[in-house]
Amino acid sequence: MERKGKALTMSVFARRKKEGRKIVVLTAYDLTSALIATAGGVDAILVGDSLGMVVLGHENTLPVTVDDMVHHCAAVCRAKPRVPVIADMPYGSFHVSVAETVRHGLRLVKETGVNAVKVEGGRSRAEAIKALIDAEIPVMGHLGLTPQSVNRFGGYRVQGRGEDAAAALLDEASFLEEAGCFGMVLECVPASLAERISSRLSIPTIGIGAGPGCDGQVLVIHDMLGLFTGLKPKFVKRYAELGTAAVQAVESYVAEVRSGTFPSSEHQYSEDPSGPKDGSATNVSGQSGYLGSVSGDGEGSG
Ligand code: KIV
Repeated sequence: MERKGKALTMSVFARRKKEGRKIVVLTAYDLTSALIATAGGVDAILVGDSLGMVVLGHENTLPVTVDDMVHHCAAVCRAKPRVPVIADMPYGSFHVSVAETVRHGLRLVKETGVNAVKVEGGRSRAEAIKALIDAEIPVMGHLGLTPQSVNRFGGYRVQGRGEDAAAALLDEASFLEEAGCFGMVLECVPASLAERISSRLSIPTIGIGAGPGCDGQVLVIHDMLGLFTGLKPKFVKRYAELGTAAVQAVESYVAEVRSGTFPSSEHQYSEDPSGPKDGSATNVSGQSGYLGSVSGDGEGSG
């Protein structure tokens, strides 16, 4: 499961906007999801703080820490995805002081290998955005429904409805462009407004719940693969039902272990060391899965 073709760099964002080609972004949080995303042909990976909900089980993104992000960004970068990897700056990491903001941004880049960071908010984050860019860290903005503002918003609501709110969002988007962001996420805003913003800006907009007029789209990988069978926001399209398939697979495993049909002869080792190198199943991209390169004589390579 390797990415085909030339490695993409951060320049892909400006190039695609200029060419009028859509930019496809997907979240990933670990080695396997990064390999799947890149093999599927995405242009960039976002290690979103949505991991707080879909991986860590928090109610919202607010508890996510810089340590959490470092842990997951490093795992994603170990997949050597050959597309830009963008790390979310988690809540609290860019709100206290410019010095702390830069320290956290540098940590993400130096300790994990991500290429850029994403910061929620507009003018109110001016100093943080400037300081990160001054430290050579490309910054992606994020406007509209910014999940880190859930308490201020009083829930997850569509943003930018009505003339005043739309004008304010347009103004924030222009600010992010002037501030030097290389692009921005527009989350849960009316499609017509997202289209207006996208056509006014020279930097790309990446929409989620913002309609087809954006320069690109982003989805949370767990949502689009159907890994959860519960609530589905309106903007999510499920391209697979892996949650249901996974439960069915576990049910089969449970039944086979209980009935004694697993493991069968093909999943066990013989006493003969010169026997077939059974158990040497290859894994994604030549990387070994759990003990993926165990040889017939029972020795693992690590
Ligand atoms: O955290 C995240 O995954 C995000 C995307 C949904 C844009 O911010």
